[in-house]
Amino acid sequence: MSDADAALMEASLIAVADAGIDIRLPLFERFFDAYPNRRASFISVDAASRRMTDETLAMMLGLAQREGWVWPLIAELVFTHRNYGALPIAEYDAFIDRTVGELELAAAPVWSDATAAAWQRHADALKAMIRKARAEWASAMPAGAPQVA
Ligand code: HEM
Repeated sequence: MSDADAALMEASLIAVADAGIDIRLPLFERFFDAYPNRRASFISVDAASRRMTDETLAMMLGLAQREGWVWPLIAELVFTHRNYGALPIAEYDAFIDRTVGELELAAAPVWSDATAAAWQRHADALKAMIRKARAEWASAMPAGAPQVA
């Protein structure tokens, strides 16, 4: 399942790249439409949107490919994001869902139910790992940990 998922996910990423579509700005605009107060958290949307979009996609693909670097990167992501204020878990979920949603729009010609299911499986896994990282930081370093909820 995971190899088949990875192949479908890669095909959608390649289609978007071949079409020359950059999903990050519409992704961030739609995210800020849902969470307008969060816009002020960003010093540079241009800089952050490149890395946040890229890493979110890379983490989901990496999970499908059973890459060992994904978990340490998630643990680091959760900890460094404590610098950006109290980020509710619902905003992580929404950002991940919106990322897949933008990809679907951009990859429409090659998108299928199987492609959607592949991304969904690894979006769910990423969300679960973010929750686990938040809980583990809270237990290991209660004073400096990101909030769990
Ligand atoms: C899987 C989800 C996410 C990933 C992989 C991710 C990744 C990153 C990375 C790599 C950076 C550094 C950007 C840079 O070098 O400029 C960053 C910055 C940041 N992220 Fe995220 N992020 C995620 C989710 C979120 C969510 C849900 C929020 C807020 C609701 C958020 C808020 C921020 C903020 C405020 C910055 C600082 C940007 C700035 O100073 O301009 N991130 N993120």
